[in-house]
Amino acid sequence: MRRPAPTTSVNVEGMRIHVVDHPLVAHKLTTLRDRRTDTPTFRRLADELVTLLAYEATRDVRTEQVGITTPVTETTGVRLSHPRPLVVPILRAGLGMLDGMVRLLPTAEVGFLGMVRDEDTLKASTYATRMPDDLSGRQVYVLDPMLATGGTLVAAIDTLIERGADDVTAICLLAAPEGVALMERELAGRPVTVVTASVDERLNEQGYIVPGLGDAGDRMYGTA
Ligand code: URA
Repeated sequence: MRRPAPTTSVNVEGMRIHVVDHPLVAHKLTTLRDRRTDTPTFRRLADELVTLLAYEATRDVRTEQVGITTPVTETTGVRLSHPRPLVVPILRAGLGMLDGMVRLLPTAEVGFLGMVRDEDTLKASTYATRMPDDLSGRQVYVLDPMLATGGTLVAAIDTLIERGADDVTAICLLAAPEGVALMERELAGRPVTVVTASVDERLNEQGYIVPGLGDAGDRMYGTA
């Protein structure tokens, strides 16, 4: 029996959330959630899951027509258009998603955003930025494994839009409803899409996604 197409909910304000419904995504995510999964396996599965999410996230990547000659005849096809897409992992845990993303977009440019959250005010701020100043006309893919409170991702996307990005897609392994709600509130009407494997139940008092998978950075880098 064919499975339904990926679940897509379109917010009235225009921000789109795609929850990718695919058995391989669900299978890999289940193993990531399992506390017994060791760091090398976690890293490999996160990498594979990102590639599957990236396939969905790049559905609207911009292309242009090109003429080519096959061994048989002349024909037309498409190639990624310029300016090249920009991939921006948010440090630290987003870095573990980079290989899985650029496997599908090897010609993408890569930037970096280091974000830190003030534990008193809970406001996210940027401590390191490596990307072009002018992102006019750029499609940008932001990598952050856990959309929890949403504060970091909102601040990151604000930075990208301030620099001129006109199409931003956030790829997250998991999301919490609280984070999705903040994104919808703060980024209403902006050109933003979130692609994730699951919107989980809630955040707990410590800010962890429930049921979640724990601290993504610790599990990726073996620092738990
Ligand atoms: N960051 C994580 O790594 N895990 C969570 O559950 C929430 C935020």
